[in-house]
Formats: sequence, structure tokens, C-alpha cells
Amino acid sequence: MAYETIIVEIEDHIALVKLNRPDAMNALNDVLLSELAQALKAAQKDPKVRCIVVTGTEKFFAAGADIKMMAEKGFVDVYSEDLFSDATGTIARIRKPIIAAVSGYALGGGCELAMMCDFIIAGDNAKFGQPEINLGVMAGMGGSQRLTRAIGKAKAMDMNLTGRFMDAEEAERAGLVSRVVPCKKLMENAMQAAAKIAEKSMISVMAVKEAVNRAEETTLTEGLLYEKRLFFSLFATEDQKEGMTAFLEKREPQFRDR
Ligand code: HXC
Repeated sequence: MAYETIIVEIEDHIALVKLNRPDAMNALNDVLLSELAQALKAAQKDPKVRCIVVTGTEKFFAAGADIKMMAEKGFVDVYSEDLFSDATGTIARIRKPIIAAVSGYALGGGCELAMMCDFIIAGDNAKFGQPEINLGVMAGMGGSQRLTRAIGKAKAMDMNLTGRFMDAEEAERAGLVSRVVPCKKLMENAMQAAAKIAEKSMISVMAVKEAVNRAEETTLTEGLLYEKRLFFSLFATEDQKEGMTAFLEKREPQFRDR
């Protein structure tokens, strides 16, 4: 499938999705977000795909929502069309794992898009920010919500109120990113992480994603119960028998997603 604003490559069970609006630093517009949602839905349906990596270029992951596109819009426009909500809702509901490989700027909607993914691997040149305050608006795709859950109120307030950028090291310390790697090795590291995930049973991978995401939505008691129910349910799979037998027989498991 040919897209206008993204490039999709599928190899070795990994779908690599590159944001591709280089003239606008991958600024997110309707076309890009709906193509991304479409590509992720296709990856979800494709049995060959076991993990997804979303990335940009070395200089920018995405510099936010497209300011040129938004500048002339009024409240009635963005409220009526529910700007970006269809696409972002779809992206957040993808059940296969998605890694964001972030190099350079991930600002505004770019930072928010990275946070919609399951975890972020950052190049040491990455810069995260919610600078919408400088435009007379505020975050609108998770920068006041997912960011606060990820790094806590103090840093989320600081980022959203001052609009300052956070470098990769601080982002790792704060818990926004899972690993920082040299920027030249970003893709190698992200693809290796994706390959590791691709080896697992897809059923347990999807259950892990569901359970960890649940932790952001619910109380500890409910979350622990949810986790236990999912854990027990995995004992109904052939992959549980295979995984445990392979361990006892001191061999690699051959998972079949059953
Ligand atoms: C449209 C953008 C853009 C954006 C950069 N560009 N960011 N176009 N929307 N968000 C374009 C510039 O206009 C310019 O195009 C080209 O990319 C290069 O940008 P420069 O500013 O010349 O580059 P540089 O000096 O290196 O600065 C890089 C930057 C800066 C720090 C990333 O561009 C910047 O601050 N961008 C805006 C970041 C931002 O405010 N993001 C939040 C957006 S609101 P030309 O044609 O002039 O060469 C948002 C809301 C999300 O994300 C919620 C929605 C529901």
C-alpha cells in the first residue's frame, strides 16, 4: 500500500513505520494521522507482523501537530470535526506492541504520539516537549494526561507550563523513555527490541499490553485482579504448555500463538 506521508516496510515479522513529511519536520496533519492509523490497523490484521516500530528521521520524530493547518481554524471547526480524535483513538487501541524510536524533536503532538506507543526508545539527541503553551493553546492529545502519568505532576506541569524541552537523559530519569542509546544506533536497538518481542507468543504479548495499559486506568486492587484473570487465562493456551515444557527440557520454545 502506497502512502503519501508515511513509509511502511515489513520484514522479519516487524512493521517499520516511518513518518515522512520532512519539509514540515513530520508535523502531524489529518492525512498523516489517518494514514498512520490505517497502516497500524493493517499491521494488526497482518499475521506476519508481530511487532511495530514507529520512527521519524534522525533530526525529528515529529515537531507536533501542523501549525499551518491549525492556524486558521476556530473553536467550532476543531470541536465539530473532533480534530485528530478518530485517528488517535485507533492508534491507542492497536493491540499489537508498538515501539516508538525517537531521535531529535518529539514536540507537542509528536511527544503525544510517542506516548501513545507502548514504550519509547530514545536516541541520545532526542528532545521531548509540550510547547503548545507558546502558541496560546495547550496539549490536546495526551500531553497533560499520559505525560503526567509517565513522569508525575511536577515535571508534567513544568513541561506544559514553561514549554521547555527535556533531553533524552532527563526523559529516561523521569520514566518517559525506557532506554537511551547513541542516536546512530537507535534503529538497530529498536529493531532488536522488536525482534525480541516478535519471538514471544503473540497471545501473551497482547495480554501483557492489555494488563500494563490497565494499570493506567484503574485501582491497584482492580488491576491486580485483571492481571490475575489474564494470567490464569494464558493457562488455556498451547503456548503455556510449550513455554514451560521447553524450559524444563532446556530448549528454546516454539510458540504457535495458540
Ligand atoms: C508546521 C512546522 C512545525 C509544526 C516545524 N515546522 N514545526 N510546520 N507545524 N508543528 C516547519 C517550520 O515551519 C519550517 O518550515 C520547518 O518545519 C523547519 O522548522 P524551523 O523552525 O525552521 O527549524 P528549527 O529552527 O530547527 O526549529 C525546530 C523546532 C521548531 C524547534 C522544532 O520548528 C518548532 O518550535 N516547531 C514548533 C513546535 C511546536 O510548537 N509544536 C507543537 C504544535 S501544537 P519552513 O516552510 O519555514 O521551512 C500541537 C498540538 C497537538 O502539537 C494537539 C492536537 C490535538
